[in-house]
Amino acid sequence: MKLWEGRFDNPTAKNADLFGDSLPFDKQLWAVDISASLAHAAMLGHCGIIPMDDAKKICDGLESIAADIEQGKLEIVGAEDIHSFVENELVSRIGDAGKKLHTARSRNDQVATDFRLYVRGAFDNLSESLIGIINALVDKASEGVKYVIPGYTHLRKAQPMCAGHVFNAYSEMFLRDLDRVCASRERANVMPLGSGALAGTSYPIDRDITCEMLDFDRPCENSLDGVSDRDFVAEYLFDASLIMAHLSRLCEDIILYTTEEFGYLEISDAYSTGSSIMPQKKNPDIAELIRGKTGRVYGHLMGLLTIIKGIPLAYNKDLQEDKEGLFDAEKTVNNCLNIMAEMLGAISFKPKKMAKASEMEFCCATDVADYMAKKGVPFRTAHSVTGKIVRWCIENNRTLQNMTADEYRTFDPVFGDDITQIVKGRACADARTSYGGASSANVKAEIKSIKKRLKQYIW
Ligand code: ARG
Repeated sequence: MKLWEGRFDNPTAKNADLFGDSLPFDKQLWAVDISASLAHAAMLGHCGIIPMDDAKKICDGLESIAADIEQGKLEIVGAEDIHSFVENELVSRIGDAGKKLHTARSRNDQVATDFRLYVRGAFDNLSESLIGIINALVDKASEGVKYVIPGYTHLRKAQPMCAGHVFNAYSEMFLRDLDRVCASRERANVMPLGSGALAGTSYPIDRDITCEMLDFDRPCENSLDGVSDRDFVAEYLFDASLIMAHLSRLCEDIILYTTEEFGYLEISDAYSTGSSIMPQKKNPDIAELIRGKTGRVYGHLMGLLTIIKGIPLAYNKDLQEDKEGLFDAEKTVNNCLNIMAEMLGAISFKPKKMAKASEMEFCCATDVADYMAKKGVPFRTAHSVTGKIVRWCIENNRTLQNMTADEYRTFDPVFGDDITQIVKGRACADARTSYGGASSANVKAEIKSIKKRLKQYIW
């Protein structure tokens, strides 16, 4: 039965129903819809808007519906949307009392409330997934403390670093995401219920009662805004998009570092795939898939922003399009975070390859220039002399590591015998002790700091 059929002589066309119905996807909202109705009914009874007896019958009825759905005894089908489904079912179970549930309420404030409750829970789940991946990154960083890896700019070898520094960098990104998700959750936690269709209601409702029962921080201040605001959906999708951007960058580094060409990391067989034709292949499919799925989450953000941009006050049916993208983004971002956290545990370091690479392609050249500058040579001059040393090495097929101190001195007398110890990957990495730098001492300190900051978000 349609909730609004009184006004109509004839039924809607089958295809019009198929086109407009949201039940196939908004059935996911059944639990929050019932929670919000329980609070609404209790408030109606408490305020004397409906008899207390009826309110009790409604609540018992709603609870029996919830129990039956939960146990798989009641299939959610045969209605326009989840709100109609629950109300029809209630009336068929308790009769006329059920018809009083929708007093002082519209589906407009109902759906806005349901969806906020849902998205609030989604923010909490996302926080948990973020905590999971940060823990996995911290484990990897701790393992990486003892290894050295080349750092890159422009995807050319730049300077040696402690390998843990790479994983700590990603923890910083996900910690910012966690902070953003918590702030978004707080902004989302405002209750539209009581806004009615658009302009509030003439019944003596008490919005503080429903607010407290549903654990919202406060009722919204403006009914027009209350029914039509979907900023909280946009915020979820943005937060998810940025998380996907960070995941995608991590994937890209993992894909590069596990190539034969780089060979710094190895993904265990359990998280790798092969080729149907090339027997030698071991592919990083999971990382590639996560990188690829970033696109659909960005797409959902764009979709929602486009939906809300042209909407006149207040509720318009366009807003029904806010759900599927959110559901898909939620599933995608959590799946990606969780599988990445799992896969990180299955990634191992290849320390010899990393150490060797840290001394190749003149990765220690900055340290040669810094050595000179620390002895009083102006940095710009030191840079130029080191550039000449690099050129000489290239022309003579030599490295900064196999040059003798005497050979260094042919470029500038400032070089002492200790220069041959300076140009070691490990020494270069561990010399970077400036706050936030890539020395192993800093990496250890940052791990401590990450763990401490993470604790703030664990209740
Ligand atoms: N299925 C609708 C939605 O998701 C529920 C609200 C319907 N309100 C209305 N005035 N038709 O937006």
